[in-house]
Amino acid sequence: MRKYIIILTLLVLFGLMQFVRPERNLQTNPSRYDIFYLTETEGSIISTFQTACYNCHSSNTAYPWYASVAPVSWAINSHINNGKKKLNFSEWILYDKDQQIKLLMEISEVLKEHEMPPKPYIWLHAEARLTEADRQRLDEWIINKKEEIKASLN
Ligand code: HEC
Repeated sequence: MRKYIIILTLLVLFGLMQFVRPERNLQTNPSRYDIFYLTETEGSIISTFQTACYNCHSSNTAYPWYASVAPVSWAINSHINNGKKKLNFSEWILYDKDQQIKLLMEISEVLKEHEMPPKPYIWLHAEARLTEADRQRLDEWIINKKEEIKASLN
């Protein structure tokens, strides 16, 4: 009998948890502050960043179905908030240039060290897996971008 009461209590708790819904990270318009807004960047570079990074580092997340279910929704929300706090590609133009350079160096580092995208994320999102060649291509782009910003400082 006790077992049933415990199971029932857990079910009710799970049900109640569903009422706590984090606000969704969904911006309706394409951001005018996006790192790629009106740039001449090659499409494949843009799409690689978008596929591998934008769910946590932009103002627009493509949510999978299970993202609606608490407590998964809470965990995802916290990843997005923490990711965006460090780096938001949708608000890139609002960073000052020194900050942009610093972020580019950090991006280069996390790519080299295979810290991003986070491993558990790749297990669920095979499309976000980056090959060595992808990482190399992104890094070349980062180096150029950094030079471009440095040149504009002088
Ligand atoms: C599943 C969500 C998720 C994805 C996808 C993701 N990140 Fe992150 N990223 C995070 C979180 C969360 C943090 C903050 C980690 C922390 O505070 O320790 C972070 C931190 C960072 C940082 C700051 C690192 C530091 O040392 O503080 C950089 C740079 C970064 N990510 C780049 C990227 C790039 C580039 C991609 C795509 C190749 C990417 N991330 C994909 C969640 C994500």
